[in-house]
Amino acid sequence: MKTFNISEWIKFRSNLSKDLSIGFVPTMGALHEGHLSLVKQSLLENEITLVSIYINPTQFDNSSDFKNYPHHLESDISILESLSSDNLFLLIPEYKDIYPDDYAFKVSENNFSRILCGKFRKGHFDGVLTIVLKLLNISGAQKAYFGEKDFQQLTLIKDMVHAFFVPIKIIACPIVREQDGLAMSSRNKRLSEEQRRQAPEIYKVLNQNLNKEKAEQYLHQYGIDLEYLELHNNRKYIAANIGEVRLIDNIDVKEEHKL
Ligand code: PAF
Repeated sequence: MKTFNISEWIKFRSNLSKDLSIGFVPTMGALHEGHLSLVKQSLLENEITLVSIYINPTQFDNSSDFKNYPHHLESDISILESLSSDNLFLLIPEYKDIYPDDYAFKVSENNFSRILCGKFRKGHFDGVLTIVLKLLNISGAQKAYFGEKDFQQLTLIKDMVHAFFVPIKIIACPIVREQDGLAMSSRNKRLSEEQRRQAPEIYKVLNQNLNKEKAEQYLHQYGIDLEYLELHNNRKYIAANIGEVRLIDNIDVKEEHKL
């Protein structure tokens, strides 16, 4: 699999036939089956798939969370190579190249980004929207793939693409879960064995009809601190901390969910 920095990818892309369809999967690495479902869907729908791996510092509201975010570049490359596709390419940007302005310019949203995760992680969505806009422009893709686990992020990205007339289609892909219901996330790699056993309680709470207080009490027995549990436009959203690891999940309340 060929790996590029930003200028190498832009040069490579400019030599491709304009008729080739490009699908793009932006990630922060520590790849798991959830990411692979996006990559596989892109490989099916496009002639070329570009994956990016970049742990974006501007979207972390807390420096220890940034420092402790899992770094697994070598195994990520092996995982992508195991897909054995000649149509798969990897972009690994560097801070100085992707932030030539040192984050002087940013994309800000004033409404939906201020609730749910945005209420607890100041500046998080400014960082996400800014990096995603840069990456979408660099990719030159016609389609970009995002997981529904980060449903608030996905909604904001769709709204940004609409607001700025970015010529790309945002494809939403369903959450991939472990057998016990835990939504796959790179952050799961930071859980101890015991925390990993407790973590599926977050999905269980999401599927019960509990108010915030009852949910808080329920999760507390498992050593989990509820941050928020909120219904918004027929979707129930949750964020909770297990030790230092913050996990999020969501469900469509109109659908039935298997536990
Ligand atoms: O969902 C993620 O992994 C990140 O927020 C993204 C979209 C790659 C931007 O850094």
